Amino acid sequence: MKNMNFEDELLKRTKDVWEIVESFLPAVEGHQSTVLEAMDYSIRAGGKRLRPMLMRETYCLFGGMGKEIEPFMAAIEMIHTSSLIHDDLPCMDNDTLRRGLPTAWVKFGYDMAVLAGDGLLIYSMETAAKALDFSDRPDRVARAMGILAQKTGIFGMIGGQTVDVELAGKPIPGEKLDFIYRLKTGALLEASMMIGALLGGASEDELKAVEEMASKIGLAFQIQDDILDVTSNAEVLGKPVFSDEKNNKTTYVTLEGMEQAKMAVERISAEAVACLQKLPGENRFLEELIRMLVNREK
Ligand code: IPE
Ligand code: IPE
Ligand code: MG
Ligand code: MG
Ligand code: MG
Repeated sequence: MKNMNFEDELLKRTKDVWEIVESFLPAVEGHQSTVLEAMDYSIRAGGKRLRPMLMRETYCLFGGMGKEIEPFMAAIEMIHTSSLIHDDLPCMDNDTLRRGLPTAWVKFGYDMAVLAGDGLLIYSMETAAKALDFSDRPDRVARAMGILAQKTGIFGMIGGQTVDVELAGKPIPGEKLDFIYRLKTGALLEASMMIGALLGGASEDELKAVEEMASKIGLAFQIQDDILDVTSNAEVLGKPVFSDEKNNKTTYVTLEGMEQAKMAVERISAEAVACLQKLPGENRFLEELIRMLVNREK
């Protein structure tokens, strides 16, 4: 990215990442086309594509140059999108706007939204398995699939969402909020960067360091999400503001106040950048990407 500014490079790489993800989407056809349409609608709606981008950048950081990362990039975006579809359901956050469009349940009904979330979730595994066609290290692909499943499930995103919805309207002590954020948001970012590192050839120690770095990114990312929920607007965000207040959610902002929250995002992001700088290899774009998360407006 020598002679290009970060914003241009981000746009270009977001487009590249999306083209890769898109190439793995199933065709909308057959008797079950309604669920396929709901899946397709939700993943095409937009979004920053941050997880597959972090995955690919981490893969490159460790010298990865093959195509085996691509099915995993698509898989993580499918999982993330499935988590958003379910997160918006009336029984969860009850939101009607996502990525600038009506949420899946508004557009397709609760039944199809539940099935579309499930559909994307399990199709992600079917997709990730395609990495075997591009890799001469099936052991790494198998391990990456294990990480993907673990960080998505009860010990990852689903575990975090469980505590998040269960404690809505109730006071939450700081350490429990930390647990929620590390799981509901951090876990998928950990999976993204760990899989990039693993397939790129990272050592065990490096993998651990990447997990720690990604966990920090996740924490900072969710605190910034909470900040934007009260400071931004639906047009910019593509999702409703004051969703947390509506659901009586305890967030970092309600617990610590806005100024503390902003300082925490800066501090934790700086820690993540410091982790990155300790790793071998150099990826200036990745460093900028992590820094950008502090100032992001959506
Ligand atoms: C939203 O994630 C859900 C959170 C974990 C905060 P993103 O902010 O990455 O959503 P998209 O993919 O850009 O829509
Ligand atoms: C959701 O956190 C994290 C997920 C696993 C989807 P939020 O409920 O704050 O995410 P948004 O604000 O609806 O995107
Ligand atoms: Mg939620
Ligand atoms: Mg929500
Ligand atoms: Mg939010």
